[in-house]
Amino acid sequence: MLLRSTFLKLKIKYLIVIIVVCFLIRIFGVFTHLFEKDYYKTFEYPYNGNIHISVQQLRYNQKPDIPPINFYNYEYIIDCHEKCTSDSNIVPLRLVYIVKSSPENFDRRVVIRNTWGYEHRFSDVEIRTIFVLGTRHDNELQEIINNESAQFKDIVQANFTDSYFNNTIKTMMGLKWAVKFCSASKFYMFVDDDYYVSTKNVLRFVRNPANYPQYLQESNHKTKNVSVIHQTRIEDFELPEDVRLYAGYVFFSAPHRHFTSKWYVSLEEYPYHMWPPYVTAGAYVLSLEALMDMYYTSFYTQHFRFDDVYLGLLAKKATIEPFHCDHFYFYKNPYESQGYSFTIASHGYDSPAELLQVWTDQKSLGNA
Ligand SMILES: *[C@@H]1O[C@H](CO)[C@@H](O)[C@H](O)[C@H]1NC(C)=O
Ligand SMILES: *[C@@H]1O[C@H](CO)[C@@H](O)[C@H](O)[C@H]1NC(C)=O
Ligand SMILES: *[C@@H]1O[C@H](CO)[C@@H](O)[C@H](O)[C@H]1NC(C)=O
Ligand SMILES: *[C@@H]1O[C@H](CO)[C@@H](O)[C@H](O)[C@H]1NC(C)=O
Repeated sequence: MLLRSTFLKLKIKYLIVIIVVCFLIRIFGVFTHLFEKDYYKTFEYPYNGNIHISVQQLRYNQKPDIPPINFYNYEYIIDCHEKCTSDSNIVPLRLVYIVKSSPENFDRRVVIRNTWGYEHRFSDVEIRTIFVLGTRHDNELQEIINNESAQFKDIVQANFTDSYFNNTIKTMMGLKWAVKFCSASKFYMFVDDDYYVSTKNVLRFVRNPANYPQYLQESNHKTKNVSVIHQTRIEDFELPEDVRLYAGYVFFSAPHRHFTSKWYVSLEEYPYHMWPPYVTAGAYVLSLEALMDMYYTSFYTQHFRFDDVYLGLLAKKATIEPFHCDHFYFYKNPYESQGYSFTIASHGYDSPAELLQVWTDQKSLGNA
């Protein structure tokens, strides 16, 4: 009798252990990993097929051979269509900031307008700044936004629900706005409204991305040396008009397969063991050609809810290679006056007062 009861207890113990192990395996997605497809061998993402010709046909207003499969047809509630013109003439621009903001973040927008988003920061560089918002379906909030837009003329708002997993829509409505209403800039920078940005360093970076920031250090050194001052200066370098630049902090990472993750992705949604390389979505730069090719490629790229992954998919399908630069910080670069000399962008500035303070400090040091 005694023997039988201990035996039973032992059995129950084993059963519990087995159940717990199975549960853990499921939570951590071990089985899911086994069924992933090899990104490097078999990658395809709908539309599956060669789209290059159709993308160019769409871009140049011809009827494409392949009918598009994906649209971002949300209406612009506010389109701010005069932002990049002057007396209806198109103004050639150097840089356009497309700031992804949330409807209620009024105080962040105030500080951005007065710091890195200030359009007249440099008298000889044409810069524009707009804020892209979705909607909260709240009439009171909307009235304040309408007033803000009337005052500053820098709000672009589209009719989709503003939420974290609608960020791809926000990004694509920003891209679409640039293509439709502001297509005469050489560079576009997409930034979240909780970032510090140094406009001075953005401009230095786009001048010579491959040698940033070394070329500045070299030229600093050289200007002190009279004997070389008349040689060709490396800062006169300029990227060609047709460059396809998609730059920022580049990630090579794998999808999350454990159920508890905020970023959990099922095999049905995405079957491969790796994401395409992508630039973290908080801050990145696109040249005009990259913007055009990625925008028109979106008509042949099934929607994906993570905006950074979606842009990675667009770049992959458009055969644009993401360009990595360490000076875009997707986390907060801890603040030190001297440590920010070459910082292009840093996450972690959800406090407008702190952003103002850091930016003012860096501007006085000649770094912003
Ligand atoms: C918006 O502007 C109008 C006209 O200037 C004003 O009457 C109204 O009170 C403002 N609304 C808000 C919410 O600020
Ligand atoms: C926005 O979309 C909703 C439903 O999708 C519609 O009822 C509403 O009229 C739209 N608003 C504007 C300003 O387009
Ligand atoms: C995204 O926006 C659409 C259009 O407004 C809405 O139907 C949908 O519920 C939103 N999705 C999320 C996750 O908020
Ligand atoms: C100045 O430039 C010349 C020629 O490149 C070089 O030989 C010399 O060492 C430089 N002097 C300094 C102080 O860098």
